[in-house]
Amino acid sequence: MIKLAPSILSADFARLLEDVKKVESAGCEYLHIDVMDGHFVPNITLGPGIVKSLRKDVDMVFDVHLMIENPDNYIKDFVDAGADLITVHQEACIHLHRTLQNIKSYGVKAGVALNPATPIETIKHIIKEVDMILIMTVNPGFGGQSFIEEMIEKIESLKKLIKESGLNIDIQVDGGIKPGNVAQVVKAGANIIVAGSAIFNSKNIPQTVKQLRENAAS
Ligand code: DX5
Ligand code: ZN
Repeated sequence: MIKLAPSILSADFARLLEDVKKVESAGCEYLHIDVMDGHFVPNITLGPGIVKSLRKDVDMVFDVHLMIENPDNYIKDFVDAGADLITVHQEACIHLHRTLQNIKSYGVKAGVALNPATPIETIKHIIKEVDMILIMTVNPGFGGQSFIEEMIEKIESLKKLIKESGLNIDIQVDGGIKPGNVAQVVKAGANIIVAGSAIFNSKNIPQTVKQLRENAAS
């Protein structure tokens, strides 16, 4: 069974809670929260204050995707704000093993994200530390970009690597996922599906959510 993680990057920030409530009532399990610092990626979004405000009214799993430099400096702030899962980028962590242990020391789940150009071999030796691996299917920074087809093979290789490890690790995909390509990524091995523009720009969110689930199962 897949889990859907709408990315709030494509929500209307002036009506954020209202938009989040729409995806929660449509049955989406995770809320994907994209944090960008203008350094690791060329865009700036939001910080722990907004996460804390949303936490009061939302019961979804808070899935915080940190696209920031020096993520260690902010992990505790996001935990205190209500994160359930914190994902850092392999490319942003000099001491990735330590950072993942730091996240887990707060009792939340730890994820690691790989940019399209980063090989899965870079995390092979620390795989025991992760609960989830995020395969970026676009270059991070913006919503509404096109899915990079070559990532299908990367997801398949990761699935194999996880199977060989004997561990129970989720595979999340993020970027350019639509009803038209969700089946492909699920077939390759992904089980947590981020979708920003596909869900929030839809005129009928419950219908799009249903469509994503049906197509994923096909
Ligand atoms: C990209 C972000 C994504 C983005 C996905 O840097 O990490 O979560 O919001 O948006 P779509 O689904 O529109 O590609
Ligand atoms: Zn993201």
